[in-house]
Amino acid sequence: MTAPAASDHLMEAIVGLCKRRGFIFPSSEIYGGYNGFYDYGPLGVELRNNIKKAWWRDFVQCRDDIEGLDSSILMHPSIWKASGHVDGFSDPMVDCKESKLRYRADQLFFAPVIVDGATIGYVSVLESPEQQSQAEAAAQTLKRKAAAVGELAPIELKDYTEAQPEEYALVPSPATGKPGSLTPPREFKLMFETKVGPVADDSATAYLRPETAQGIFANYKNVVDTGRVKIPFGIAQIGKAFRNEITPRNFIFRSREFEQMEIEYFIAPDADWKTLHREWLDACIAWLVSIGLPRTAITEDIHPQDKLAFYSQATTDLMFEFPHGEQELWGIACRGDYDLKQHQTHSGKSMEIFDEASKRKYVPHVIEPSLGVDRTLLAVLTAAYTEDEVSNDKGKLEKRLVMKFSPKIAPYKAAVFPLLKNKPELVERAQKLYRRLQRRWNVFYDASGAIGRRYRRQDEIGTPYGITIDFETIEKDGTVTLRDRDTCEQRRVTESELFEFLEQQIDGPLD
Ligand code: GAP
Repeated sequence: MTAPAASDHLMEAIVGLCKRRGFIFPSSEIYGGYNGFYDYGPLGVELRNNIKKAWWRDFVQCRDDIEGLDSSILMHPSIWKASGHVDGFSDPMVDCKESKLRYRADQLFFAPVIVDGATIGYVSVLESPEQQSQAEAAAQTLKRKAAAVGELAPIELKDYTEAQPEEYALVPSPATGKPGSLTPPREFKLMFETKVGPVADDSATAYLRPETAQGIFANYKNVVDTGRVKIPFGIAQIGKAFRNEITPRNFIFRSREFEQMEIEYFIAPDADWKTLHREWLDACIAWLVSIGLPRTAITEDIHPQDKLAFYSQATTDLMFEFPHGEQELWGIACRGDYDLKQHQTHSGKSMEIFDEASKRKYVPHVIEPSLGVDRTLLAVLTAAYTEDEVSNDKGKLEKRLVMKFSPKIAPYKAAVFPLLKNKPELVERAQKLYRRLQRRWNVFYDASGAIGRRYRRQDEIGTPYGITIDFETIEKDGTVTLRDRDTCEQRRVTESELFEFLEQQIDGPLD
């Protein structure tokens, strides 16, 4: 009997669990935290590494057409000039002069409140799944306070980038609820700057990379010249990216330091990019499902042609039903030859490849699937979080919190328990099995407390299997009890059956 947790409490519950059980901590917490930065604790780092390992295995090692790369975080500043980031990588922001708070203008929504055709004021709300109902409630309050009589027109929200100059002074600040303190929208640069070398003048300015993709373009020639790649082929990279987000929020969904898993997939200029784009979308969806995300929680957001960058042929975002609403998880873009041509122009180095099959030379086009590790982790936490009821030792139903991680990415794959900790023969046998399992997978050993409590602790951190060594193990046939986290069903298996079963569940079937 599984009841999904109420979505408005889900984020709070996930954040609480992450802190309590050592998945994710606010960065610099002993100094009051540092907005937009997070630290991954013992369980978080395992989960995160498993996500990255699964991605690398499935997209790099198990494909013959993709090569891996690990480029430096700080790169020549010309790269960011060529890519357009120096001049164009910014978000529109708006400041509240009174509260000193800063908002992203495209996440601040406002509307005039019109009663019987007359505007009596404005309301504003921050982007959220409840923004419409919040704005309507605020409009009702404004109408009541103004003692306005008549019919309230429907509230039509627009984001602040669409505000007319005469409206800036009329829109109330979300911080104070009063108009007059919001500035017009201004572009805010998202790249973090630093200085490289002993002289701190302008020529020493460098940027912390805001995406890993440019490291791939900058090394494209190296990979072509040193590897045995032929079109179509991809270069993949996992690495940190940094953006000075105006409003980091929703936990690790939008942070200032995060990690990306990106692929640049190079294709012939006349390739059927629409079909290839579709194939990439399908491959990405299949991968998300393979790590445990429900297919029903993933949708596609096709960017309208008039909102695409001039060089872009198509972009579709895979959206996921996060606790704070449906939001972008994975962007899959057809970027044409823009990036390579930019680097060709700025560096003076040819980015052409000789295509053996067609005996032609050209600058390839690219399809770019770009995914955030941290966003994937939040999606995994969201999908796994389950509250249900199970029977306790005495057969009574009790509430349980269980993280239903796929065995492929769960931090611990199994936990080993001697039934009693004061029976040396049980402990010795359990330790032996634990050490054997540990050579293959990350497993946990727990000897303390009632067995039911030990199961519950593992359920909460998402360990898919519990293995108990009892008297039957040592006195009879050597079998152990294998408990399934999700069904709580238990069965007896031999040690060789156990290894075979775990291998199938964790690493997947060979065929
Ligand atoms: N190279 C293309 C690129 O970087 P993007 O849409 O800006 O495109 C790609 O980012 C992915 O990186 C997003 O779909 C998201 O998963 C992740 N991402 C972007 N900004 C992020 C942030 N501030 N915090 C966490 N993840 C972020």
